[in-house]
Amino acid sequence: MILNRLRLIRRAASAPGCSLCISLSKQLYCSSARRTRVRDALSSLETGSSIRIQGWVRSVRSQKNNLFLHVSDGSSLQPLQVVASSDLNTRELTFGCAVDIIGSLEKSPSKKQSVELQASHVKVIGECNPVDFPFKIKERHSLEYIRQYPHLRCRTNAFSSLLRIRSEATSAIHSYFRDNGFVQIHTPIITSNDCEGAGELFQVEPAGNEHSSDKENPHFFSVPSYLTVSGQLHLEVMAGAFPAVYTFGPTFRAENSQSRRHLAEFYMVEAEISFTESLEDLLKLMEDLLKTSTEHLLSHCAEDVELFHKYVSPGHREKVDLILKRKFNVISYTEAIDILKRSSQQFIYKPEWGCDLQTEHEKFLVKHCGDVPVFVTDYPYDLKPFYARDNQDQPQHTAAAVDLLVPIVGELCGGSLREERPELLKTRLARAGLEETYAWYLQLREFGSVPHGGFGMGFERYLQCVLGVDNIKDTIPFARSSRSCLL
Ligand code: 4AD
Repeated sequence: MILNRLRLIRRAASAPGCSLCISLSKQLYCSSARRTRVRDALSSLETGSSIRIQGWVRSVRSQKNNLFLHVSDGSSLQPLQVVASSDLNTRELTFGCAVDIIGSLEKSPSKKQSVELQASHVKVIGECNPVDFPFKIKERHSLEYIRQYPHLRCRTNAFSSLLRIRSEATSAIHSYFRDNGFVQIHTPIITSNDCEGAGELFQVEPAGNEHSSDKENPHFFSVPSYLTVSGQLHLEVMAGAFPAVYTFGPTFRAENSQSRRHLAEFYMVEAEISFTESLEDLLKLMEDLLKTSTEHLLSHCAEDVELFHKYVSPGHREKVDLILKRKFNVISYTEAIDILKRSSQQFIYKPEWGCDLQTEHEKFLVKHCGDVPVFVTDYPYDLKPFYARDNQDQPQHTAAAVDLLVPIVGELCGGSLREERPELLKTRLARAGLEETYAWYLQLREFGSVPHGGFGMGFERYLQCVLGVDNIKDTIPFARSSRSCLL
């Protein structure tokens, strides 16, 4: 088998397709070799063709006659095996170095892979000192360890899988909305609104603006402006002209939180639908979005998702299967408080009607519902922002708001019907002293207003839920949270 391989490697070097390969002052040059992604090479049925791959070395094994490399280029979890004559081995050819390789794609004699690249040229493009490189060959590093190297962690298997999954999940979500007739709206990042009213805002002013010459109005935009905490209010504008709109973009919260589910900069998927009949319309949409996107991920990123379910969160796949198979539960906030109060669990925060549900309560409720997601509806009116629709019920005054709670993270989505009745909205805004600030929002209710509602889903929390990732910082390329150093 080895002799056969050697013959093939020599043949690769002198193959007619490679007759234009020349060495130009140590520069690799081959006009006929097709530049190919590792992923395409691995699934190629066309053996015998001359190809060129560019990537990073994941392992090097040198035998008497042959040199074996595994090369990845980020296109798939599985690397491409490269076989070369040991004459091509150099000191620079180490774990982590960047290479440019030309050779012939051949059927592999080994059962471990169907094809391998029999290399005629191997060039090290970027050296990598394996002693100083923080990741070691064949070692499985924890997510916590690799988090210390935000500038290098994309070079690990786990994080490159995460990034491919994240990219595919983004496409799945856009496809879902496109297939269901939603119009995508690019809502602004800079705004004067505090949509959630929680005051978790990052203010935006030009650097050095403290010396603004206009003492009357020192603000760049004439009013204090912030990074958006939600695109909801701008989506509501559009819901006055389109029956279904969505946005999917960066969102900012100045939460001084070191929790495993909060970031200062995260991505939110938000949808708004008009002519709603009831909260039920929103529940259906959230459940369908979650199930459809997850099914897409499981079928389009099977290998990458499996890495997480096998090594990062063993046993999590069953939870994901339950999410897909079972109808989500629906309970009211009042029922949720009853369940929590009746439980024998010792909570850090005592559950009380009128208080927000804490993560520990949310996780308990999901467990109580058999690890199947649960919608909690009709929250106390006073807990919800000004836009939430008044249920006008008694004695427990509630709003038509909903949170979706899921395994691992607790709250994944938050939404509500919006108060479309001008008088009720006006009274609430006046009570909060916001009538002037939101005069434009109130005006939306005067010109062809319709019942409408929407929700927001935290994209990183969605990835945590599907992959079983404990810390939200491991689901975003560059995590931003309070007191963290920025790259
Ligand atoms: O529940 P929230 O605050 O809802 C809104 O912002 C609504 N205006 C959305 C709407 O109706 N259009 O946030 C929605 C979701 C949460 O359920 C959570 O998943 C995520 O956004 N989220 C965060 N994710 C990461 N880090 C944070 N600091 C987050 N804050 C909220």
